[in-house]
Amino acid sequence: MQTLKGLILSGGKGTRLRPITYTSAKQLVPVANKPVLFYGIEAMARAGIDEVGIIIAPETGEEIRAAVGDGSRFGVSITYIVQDEPLGLAHAVLTAELFLGDAPFVMYLGDNLLQGGIEDLVAAFRSSRPDALILLTPVPDPEQYGVAELHDGAVVRLVEKPAEPKTNLALVGVYMFTNCVHGAARAIEPSGRGELEITDAIQYLVDQGMRVEPHIVQGWWKDTGRLGDMLAANRLVLDTIEARVAGELVDSQVDGRVVIEPGARLVRSTVRGPAIIGAGARLTDCYVGPYTAIGEGCEIRNAEVEHSILLAGSSVHDLAGRMESSLLGRNVTIGRDERQPRAFRFLVGDNSEIGIL
Ligand code: G1P
Repeated sequence: MQTLKGLILSGGKGTRLRPITYTSAKQLVPVANKPVLFYGIEAMARAGIDEVGIIIAPETGEEIRAAVGDGSRFGVSITYIVQDEPLGLAHAVLTAELFLGDAPFVMYLGDNLLQGGIEDLVAAFRSSRPDALILLTPVPDPEQYGVAELHDGAVVRLVEKPAEPKTNLALVGVYMFTNCVHGAARAIEPSGRGELEITDAIQYLVDQGMRVEPHIVQGWWKDTGRLGDMLAANRLVLDTIEARVAGELVDSQVDGRVVIEPGARLVRSTVRGPAIIGAGARLTDCYVGPYTAIGEGCEIRNAEVEHSILLAGSSVHDLAGRMESSLLGRNVTIGRDERQPRAFRFLVGDNSEIGIL
């Protein structure tokens, strides 16, 4: 079989993660202090794929290029491909045609996380040589995804976000294709949301009698499109980290699975894992509880934080209650303000959400 290439989709507007995505690409939001996108690139590298194309949008492409670079630190070579408008996943495939050529490829949605990686799938694709291989997993809310109907183990129907799903089997955002997908992407019409859906392209392959092999995902899978999913992904990854304390602890305590990166300093604080504290963070008189990822250079003082993700440079101080299930963007400040008149004072962007005690 020809060498497999990789195609990672990192465009999209990330509307379900606003306001974070007003200023940053959703694929760069960190899970356990590492951008979601990096997990996909690493999965490709581990599966032996070394030519990876990344689809980027004009708005967020530069940020993604800056974060990922030429791929050498992941052991892959990266080609950036600009998709001028978010016209769908099948449109992204067409946009990448020059890069892909005739090669079979793995397509990976840059906001997806797959626990088991893709090595087994690549092996299955190589050995049984279907025209396409799709991944499925049961979900409680199939109407949010592409949904598959199987008959005797074969794919009979795929529908994108059906109002009344026939099954609970969602299409996971990792697919394997031979070059016949290009023709399929050209043959289909835009969907109701105005996009060329990869789901419809795969349905087209099924209709043409091509072999579309379904695989049920072993282990967990997360599409990190919404806050709850981000927090869940963060929990799942933190559950697998290895404890390591490289920072400085002064009258402080860490319990369980905790990573303290170099240059972080904890004073009179407790961190209860699983948790990660980024490089150069400052924690003073505080408690950081399970399932928290504190980004680089964050500062927490006289406060309790749990089950949250803080991006680099944010600070939280002097809170009366514990902060939990929160996602703070970069350089956000949350704190007690003693000025008169005693009042809540906010400066927040569009689509922000604040819950107070
Ligand atoms: C896309 C696909 C959908 C798939 C999902 C997985 O949805 O269209 O079929 O189930 O990714 O993450 P989107 O994230 O574009 O809404």
